[in-house]
Amino acid sequence: MKETILKINDYSIKLGNFSLKRINLQVIEGEIFALLGKTGSGKTILLESIAGFYHRFSGDIYLKDQSIISIPLEKRQIGYVYQDFGLFNHMTVYENIIYGLKINGKSRDEQQLKGHEMAQMLSIEHRLNQYPLTLSGGERQRTALARALIMKPRLLLMDEPFSSLDPATKEIMYQQIEKIHTLFNCTIIFVTHDFNEAKRMADRIGIMMDGELRGIRNSENLFVPNGDQKIDRFLFGERNTNERINITS
Ligand SMILES: Nc1ncnc2c1ncn2[C@@H]1O[C@H](COP(=O)(O)OP(=O)(O)O)[C@@H](O)[C@H]1O
Ligand SMILES: [Mg+2]
Repeated sequence: MKETILKINDYSIKLGNFSLKRINLQVIEGEIFALLGKTGSGKTILLESIAGFYHRFSGDIYLKDQSIISIPLEKRQIGYVYQDFGLFNHMTVYENIIYGLKINGKSRDEQQLKGHEMAQMLSIEHRLNQYPLTLSGGERQRTALARALIMKPRLLLMDEPFSSLDPATKEIMYQQIEKIHTLFNCTIIFVTHDFNEAKRMADRIGIMMDGELRGIRNSENLFVPNGDQKIDRFLFGERNTNERINITS
């Protein structure tokens, strides 16, 4: 039986005028889970909450059976790829990739071995001595992924990993993420506002609306109306939803 790797119980947080409201979510080990929603619906805050960026909240978050809310983010074994990739621009690609190993005091040999292994896996070996600002969007993305994956995270979180890429690069990155998912056998949660991307990449999709996790669907059922009119309006638009209701009523 598939095990739950992440369990979020009644998690709420208020940031300024915005609230995430009583989020309950279980993510299954090995799955790709998408958080889908409009801009401002709270996707990033939820992802950051899982990573451990916030301290004043209510509820609990478990990784496997362990509550992680009192574990500092660097000890959670969660990889995070930021929306803008968050690379250190004053460091080379190589220095970016091995950063986590270095601050954890791993030997220079291990840094080199794993750094090159990771770069090879992500096809950026030829860019190791360059600086992030000299890279293409796809290469920056792959560097950020390598930096996260080198730490062997139990969970990989990616915030809008594809949204800044051009269509051709996007397709390559979809395939790269699928390859990584297979090779590392890791659980991935990614954020997107693109329905088709969610359907293409994810096993299950959580729909975020106004700070709520409004519903969860298997990706094959994403576009099957299931009675929640608010979700239907989000997925099909106001006009189409009304037309569909007229047809079916
Ligand atoms: N630290 C913060 N303090 C106050 N408001 C915030 C903070 N971070 C995000 N917000 C607001 O919360 C809302 C949801 O943010 P976010 O999770 O980034 O949305 P999404 O990623 O779905 O676009 C937005 O309106 C944003 O401006
Ligand atoms: Mg966001």
